[in-house]
Formats: sequence, structure tokens, C-alpha cells
Amino acid sequence: MTATLDTEAAQDPAQDPQYPMARQCPFSPPPELTEIQAEDPVRRVSLWDGSHPWLVTRHADVRTVLADQRFSADTTKPGYPPSSPGQLARRKDSPSFISMDDPDHAFFRRMLITEFSVRAVKNLRPMIEEAVDELLEAMAAGPQPADLVEAFALPLPSLVICRMLGVPYADHGFFQSHSHTIIDTRSTVEETLTASDELKGYLEGLVAHREERARAGEEVDDLLGRLAARHVVTGEITREQAGAMGLLLLIAGHETTANMIALGTLTLLRDPEHAARVRSGESVSGAVEELLRLLTVVHLGRRRVATEDVELGGVLIRAGEGVIAAGEIANRDPEAFPAPDELDVERTPNHHVAFGHGVHQCLGQQLARAELQVAYPALLRRFPDLRVAAPVEDIPFRDTMVVYGVHELPVAW
Ligand code: HEM
Repeated sequence: MTATLDTEAAQDPAQDPQYPMARQCPFSPPPELTEIQAEDPVRRVSLWDGSHPWLVTRHADVRTVLADQRFSADTTKPGYPPSSPGQLARRKDSPSFISMDDPDHAFFRRMLITEFSVRAVKNLRPMIEEAVDELLEAMAAGPQPADLVEAFALPLPSLVICRMLGVPYADHGFFQSHSHTIIDTRSTVEETLTASDELKGYLEGLVAHREERARAGEEVDDLLGRLAARHVVTGEITREQAGAMGLLLLIAGHETTANMIALGTLTLLRDPEHAARVRSGESVSGAVEELLRLLTVVHLGRRRVATEDVELGGVLIRAGEGVIAAGEIANRDPEAFPAPDELDVERTPNHHVAFGHGVHQCLGQQLARAELQVAYPALLRRFPDLRVAAPVEDIPFRDTMVVYGVHELPVAW
């Protein structure tokens, strides 16, 4: 079926494929997405809530949607395509700037730019290297097989974001389980709202503590401390808004990178030639970009809603209609990436959209890159004989989570 400006009315919603589709290979997007990209690259799909948003699958069109502010990221707007009942319920609940449009979005994002700049991340690198070494030593001293997620992939980004924000790492059990509930599309509305409220309350408490210290003239040298002193105490933003920013950073800062570490390691262990190159320190940054592109762990599409009529790929998207910009398949578009399914560490240019595109492009991308560039070679060097200690069929993949990856990864050495 080809959707064009004049045949749109003839489409039968009952024929719309359900999105998301099931993966057949855990390392690739569902094959239906490849077909849609080739045959009907902007088409309607059917969502869990009975709505029929547009699915955008080509790399150029996905970038257009994400860069064009006529597509709003505001989850409270009618027509926005929610990924789950929990996300639908959470949308009025103290939004963070990831679901705001400019100028509000820019107002909050600006407060954080210097915290995540190339220079700030360069200064964090020794701390990342030290955390990596400590975690790998502890793993080496522990029993085999070990779960790589629990021993390394999850603690590393959690430790890093905790130290940046000023969240006590000792509370990791609490925030990791709550974050897990929030990003699981199977969580009930009640579970999602409870987890979200508790986590918000926790971060607001940390902000409140820093406000008190700022009022007493004490400087707290962490991100939440700077937010409290420079923006909350001055009345520029509320404690609740600062808490919502902290919540976004805490979740985005550990779930995504953790899954890239675990799924990326699994991919490398199945590809000895590239594992050897990364172990030797050769083409590490090229390998990281390719793993980001191929695995696109923030799957299930970037979601938007049109605020005006927009023509895209020969289709008229009307104001108020939902749009899903599917980065997971855009990153395999042969028009943008020749031999798209191959890991090519020399690929240039590599304009993947694993970190999104446009004004909402990932704020933490330099930090994520630094963590991945340190983590993969260090792990492969510390354990030159690292192997997966289970058949791939027994590895639990995170199909229903907003961030894809593996729940567990048993490894031995
Ligand atoms: C936004 C992916 C790591 C913080 C995004 C978006 C993507 C993404 C796709 C765009 C969302 C949209 O357009 O709707 C990733 C991946 C990561 C990663 C794949 C790891 C490999 C991080 C880290 C942080 C972070 C370490 C740091 C705290 C954010 C924030 C936004 C964002 C704050 C919202 C930006 C805005 O709306 O202006 N990320 N991310 N991310 N990410 Fe990341």
C-alpha cells in the first residue's frame, strides 16, 4: 500500500500493522520494519490504545521530524502517541524538559549544558576509568559465571551519574528498581505512578537539603547543589522542577548506557574480529558509534505530535496527528548507511540517530561515549577469555522496556 496525499482517505485502519512488532533476531529490528521502510516509509500503524499514528522509517524523514518544531514532544497534547498506559498516566505529572517544546525546553536545558560539555566530560574521565578498574577487579574476585549486568554494566553508569548529581550510590537498589518500573511498558498505571512519585519525592528531598545549605552560605559541589543554589534559591525554578530535572538525568543517565555496555559486549563477544580490535585499542570510537547505531537501545521510536499540517514523504500529516520517528530502523536505512547491517568501524560519515536529533538530541551523549569508550576495551583486556556462559536463546532480552538490552548476561572467563 502506498500512502499518497490523495489516497490517504482510502486507507483502511484495520490493515494498519501493530507497532511495535516483535523482533525475530535479538540484534536486529523486526523484519516488518525493513519492509515498511522499503515500501511504505511513512505509514499509519496501530498502537496499544487503538490510535493510528504515523510511523516514519527513513533516516532523512526521521531527522526531518526530530528537527522540525512543528512536531511537538509535549506528551500532554492530544494525539501524542504514548508508549504504554503508564506513560499516558504520567504525562501530566511534573513533566521534564524532554517532553517540552521550546522556549520552555531550552530554558531548562540551558541550565545543564556546561555540566555535560566536552570539557566537563573530559574532566570526568579519570573518575570513569577508576570506577571501571574497581568494578572489574571486584568481578574478577567474584564467582563464575557472573552476571555482567549486575557486576559491571549497571553499576558503572549508576556510579558515574550518582557522583555527578550528588545522589548517594548506596540508594542504587531503590532508584534502579523504580526506574525499571517506570520504563517497563508492562507496568500498570498504579505501579508507574507510585514509582514515579517516590522517585520524584526522593530527588526533591535531595534538592531541599541543598537549598538549606545554600541558604546557610555553604557550597555543595555537585549538579543538584548547583541547580539548587543558582536556580531554586533564586526563585528562577521551583524545587519540584529541579527534582524533575534530576529524575530525568538519573534515569536517562544509567538505564541507557548500562544497556549499551551489556548488549554491546554481547555483540562483540559474538564477533571475535571486532572484539580483538577493540581490545587492542584500535578503532574504539568507530566501534562505539557503530554499536550505538546497530543496537539503537532507545527503541520504540521517538514520539511526537504534529502541531500544523506537514507534508512528509508524500503523505499529509495533519495537525493533531501522532508521529513515531523510528530511529531503530532509520539507523539501518541503506540510503544513509551502505551495507547497513554490517559493523564498519571506518564508516564515515556516521550520522546515526541513536542519540536522537534536533533540539532534544541527547544531552548526555559525550558522557555516554566516554563511558563506552573506556568500558569495552577495559573489560576485554581485563578478561581476554571472556565468553557468554549461556546459549543466546536463554538470554532474557528487554523487548518490553523503553530501553532495549538484556536483563542479565551470564559470562565466564
Ligand atoms: C535524550 C539516547 C545516555 C541524558 C536522549 C534521546 C535519545 C537518547 C534517543 C532523544 C529523546 C527524544 O528525542 O525524544 C541515549 C543513549 C544513551 C544516552 C542511547 C547511552 C548510550 C544519556 C546519559 C545522559 C542522558 C548518560 C545523562 C544524564 C539525556 C537527556 C535527554 C536525552 C537529559 C533529553 C534532552 C532534551 O530533551 O533536550 N537520549 N542517551 N542520556 N538524554 Fe540520552
